[in-house]
Amino acid sequence: MDILNLLHSSFLPGKTGARLRESKVFPSYAIIPVSGVLNLTNVNDKIVFDEARASSYDKRNDNLAPTRDALFLLMRTVLGDLPESARVLCVGVGTGAELIDLAQHFPNWHFTAVDPAAAMLDICRKHAEECGFTSRCTFHEGYLDSLPQGEPYDAATCLLVSHFFAQRDERSKFFNQIAQRLRPDGYLISSDLSCDMNSHAYRSILEIWVRMLTTAGFPMEDVEKFCASYGRETAVLPPQEVEAIIESSGFNSPVQFYQNLLIRAWYSRRQ
Ligand SMILES: C[S@@+](CC[C@H](N)C(=O)[O-])C[C@H]1O[C@@H](n2cnc3c(N)ncnc32)[C@H](O)[C@@H]1O
Repeated sequence: MDILNLLHSSFLPGKTGARLRESKVFPSYAIIPVSGVLNLTNVNDKIVFDEARASSYDKRNDNLAPTRDALFLLMRTVLGDLPESARVLCVGVGTGAELIDLAQHFPNWHFTAVDPAAAMLDICRKHAEECGFTSRCTFHEGYLDSLPQGEPYDAATCLLVSHFFAQRDERSKFFNQIAQRLRPDGYLISSDLSCDMNSHAYRSILEIWVRMLTTAGFPMEDVEKFCASYGRETAVLPPQEVEAIIESSGFNSPVQFYQNLLIRAWYSRRQ
């Protein structure tokens, strides 16, 4: 299936997609974003954060560093009023990009790094060693529910994690677990893929998104997997819906402070 068909069918969820195609709400696109074709034969392959993905994760994302750095600059600015020796919970820390950035800018902060993927967390640990701040980090391989209880945190980060919860109630439970670990008024910085998949904007942005990922060196096979998962294993919801989920999970109204194509980030404070 080539990308035009893909954009016209697979990314539009269920009946809505069929309705939109029939009603010709969306014009045919003349722009083909990549030279190759996408196919969906691997549509059921899950995105797994195993050894192979972990070892290539940083290199590929480094090619998109300017977009990530803009997010981090704003994240640091939002969190700039935290105490001198703040405690920060990094949920789904992966290879540690957000933790490293915060640790470098706030030399007295302490971090708890949580991730169920051993291969990702190992790299995070290695980065912390190389940068010399292991003594300010606690690493927890697993999910939040098995993290030992301790003093409440001043802030939590949760970047590109919650969209992996396909069910809204599970996503809400996840955000609520984070809220339970924060002090009242503590910050949540979260980012997710978010867009109204039924909108013209989504179809347009998706083309640029695919172009950006392939230009950054993501293999076509991975880009296919990512795109095929949107609206399925990866819950790409409209921003208002993500905000409603966060707000119903123990936080005040989230404020969107960043957008890079399909990625949006919010800050919110525990009620
Ligand atoms: C796309 S990566 C993001 C990593 C990092 N936050 C970043 O922005 O580079 C998603 C990470 O979330 C982790 N993850 C998935 N489900 C999780 C859950 N329920 N709780 C905590 N981490 C989870 C995965 O293992 C993976 O390392």
